[in-house]
Amino acid sequence: MSVKVICGAMVVLVWSCTPAPTPFDEAAAIERGRGIAGATFQQLSARLQAAMASEGPSGALQYCSVAALPLVDSLSAAQGVRIKRTSDRIRAPHDAPDADEQRRLNEVLTLLAKGTAPQDIPPQAVVLVDSVAYYQPILIAMPTCLKCHGAAGSDVDSLTMAAIRKGYPQDAAMGYRVGDFRGLWSIRWKR
Ligand code: HEC
Repeated sequence: MSVKVICGAMVVLVWSCTPAPTPFDEAAAIERGRGIAGATFQQLSARLQAAMASEGPSGALQYCSVAALPLVDSLSAAQGVRIKRTSDRIRAPHDAPDADEQRRLNEVLTLLAKGTAPQDIPPQAVVLVDSVAYYQPILIAMPTCLKCHGAAGSDVDSLTMAAIRKGYPQDAAMGYRVGDFRGLWSIRWKR
């Protein structure tokens, strides 16, 4: 389509005559986001599993966090990428959703309520004011997750339960089963 021909001819397209920002390449943004989420998950999961093996779940609590993860720090310093996780049932208050994260969470919850399987919920990349936001579902992908996010009293032992209650008095991230939707990766970078 030729913008030159359309400009001036159609009022609705007048905006395209002003110097346009670089067009948003959604597929490239999704690829970038997916790569960052995947690498972050690998680092997080390796660290979490090592801590679980040596200290058990109650001693490994701090390792299910993207805070102070070397990759998260280096990407943020070198590339201005902000890596966060959020959820409709949060454990750590710092993971609470902002307005656009809440928008995506609502969309996902609607899809789930309509019967879409958690693994079929697609990633999404959108443009915010001056940044790109990338969202990708996080699932309770393995039984290990249940040691701290499963049923209190059976999956989660009493020591871990007590440590979670103490560290996260507002916790809402218990009672999951394998395969459940747990939350979203929320990754942003400057446009
Ligand atoms: C050793 C206990 C433990 C295990 C095992 C664990 N988590 Fe967590 N999880 C936590 C804690 C504690 C937090 C809060 C971290 C923080 O303070 O940043 C958390 C936070 C999260 C969050 C961020 C949203 C929120 O509610 O704050 C997600 C998403 C999450 N966990 C998913 C998982 C998944 C998926 C697995 C399995 C791969 C898993 N967790 C395994 C303890 C655990």
